[in-house]
Amino acid sequence: MESPNSQQAPSQSTSAKKLTPSVIAHYLNQYVVGQDEAKKTLSVAVYSHYRKIGKQRQSGDENIKSNILLIGPTGTGKTLLCETLSRIVRVPFVTANATSLAQSKYVNEEIEALMLRLLDKAEGDIAKAQRGIVFIDEIDKLKSNEGEERGTSGERVQHALLKIMEGAVVRLGSTQILDTTNILFICAGAFVGLEGITATKHTYGFISVDANSNDSQKILARLNSRVKPTDLFEFGLIPEFAGRLPIIAKLQDLSKEQLVRIMVEPRNSIYNQFREILMDEGVELDIEHEVFRQIAEMAFEYKVGARSLRGLFEEMLTPVLYQVPDQPDIRKVVIKSLFEEPSLIRKEE
Ligand SMILES: Nc1ncnc2c1ncn2[C@@H]1O[C@H](COP(=O)(O)OP(=O)(O)O)[C@@H](O)[C@H]1O
Ligand SMILES: [Mg+2]
Repeated sequence: MESPNSQQAPSQSTSAKKLTPSVIAHYLNQYVVGQDEAKKTLSVAVYSHYRKIGKQRQSGDENIKSNILLIGPTGTGKTLLCETLSRIVRVPFVTANATSLAQSKYVNEEIEALMLRLLDKAEGDIAKAQRGIVFIDEIDKLKSNEGEERGTSGERVQHALLKIMEGAVVRLGSTQILDTTNILFICAGAFVGLEGITATKHTYGFISVDANSNDSQKILARLNSRVKPTDLFEFGLIPEFAGRLPIIAKLQDLSKEQLVRIMVEPRNSIYNQFREILMDEGVELDIEHEVFRQIAEMAFEYKVGARSLRGLFEEMLTPVLYQVPDQPDIRKVVIKSLFEEPSLIRKEE
């Protein structure tokens, strides 16, 4: 699964600027609403990755990289964050999907193909490919279930991935080899059920806090919601694999307000996309704030994060999109409520 490069790449000024964590986060902010913790973690990790690589070239030191695990409910922006990140980083970046890796009979061939894609992104430059970033989505689908035999496909893929995450030499074709030691791996998954595991394993419950102090309660709550490697084993990842993902960032459920913002704020927001589509027909689209609130309300109930927004939005606009091409006298469409017919404003009215 390659990220579509159709969206606007970072502007000239961004790419000339030093990619500090805040510059990376600023870019992510233009496309991803909320999820500040994940944005910060990714920005710092990517920045550090560059720095270590730069230093290592001067000193020849061993690089100790810190692969990242993103955990969060479905539809909250994990894939979007990484796709957006891939457009700003100046190292080769490829994405893979753990589910399809697990479905393949030939895991090692799949991994080899992934490394070949990375090399391709590096325009054939092995040294450049060896400093790239690999994003693996739906990593939680590799869990082994209780009672299942050992050596299930998911576990096999974990072992195969573990090797390249630790640093291995991958043979590409008959002549080239690629060393994965310095490649940064970012994994993501929803990890349904992990919350329950983390919640029942309060490691910090013994720290006495002032029950009346809001601050210490908050700190305790934060410590207790931290995902520990042991939680990941219990979830079904093999210990060695979980151990290779030392940095864990959590994504949060999106609030109704954030769902509203997602429809209108990002550069390529749904609202902007449909305004453009109608603009092509010479029609102005004006949707009132209340409508976004109503859509967010429904989407919130569906509990699939921002995933249902587009469907709800399109459904609302279908009657309009159906009529407009045949009726050139329509110059403006105003929608005031999801439960009212859109007003079609015609020329000379
Ligand atoms: N935080 C967010 N900001 C903006 N859009 C979002 C956000 N979260 C999800 N979306 C939108 O919802 C859809 C699903 O998001 P995705 O990143 O694939 O979710 P997941 O966390 O399951 O990987 C995408 O179309 C994406 O644009
Ligand atoms: Mg995803």
